[in-house]
Amino acid sequence: MTLGEARTSRRIVFTGLGALGVAAALAGCAGGEDGEGSSTPTVATGSALASTGEVPVGGGIILADEKIVLTQPTEGTFEAFSAVCTHQGLLVTSVEDGTIHCSNHGSAYSASTGAIEGGPAASPLPKVEIRVEGDQILAA
Ligand code: FES
Repeated sequence: MTLGEARTSRRIVFTGLGALGVAAALAGCAGGEDGEGSSTPTVATGSALASTGEVPVGGGIILADEKIVLTQPTEGTFEAFSAVCTHQGLLVTSVEDGTIHCSNHGSAYSASTGAIEGGPAASPLPKVEIRVEGDQILAA
């Protein structure tokens, strides 16, 4: 697996969803014209998202079920964004070299800020609040 590929482990891809938390913060922010079902990350506050060691420096991981992309732009700095591309509501596909990519139509976003770096997307990826406790990244 290369640095930025979507993780395919059961924990990353198939973990269950929590309730509100981030969903409330992001309501109305994400989504697209013809997206695939709910486009808003939904995870309960305090839910463990990943361990810090799972997120590569300069890259990131995509939590498909939670619809969250976790990044580590520089060592020890973690960020989280909605993984729902603002173009048409599909999940972003990879994180490489400081950029979150959506290969569906070519949008690109900053892994540091979620800002648009290219492609047809017209708005940035909404930020998801997280906190790091020890080696765990939690929904805040
Ligand atoms: S859905 Fe991401 S670029 Fe179109």
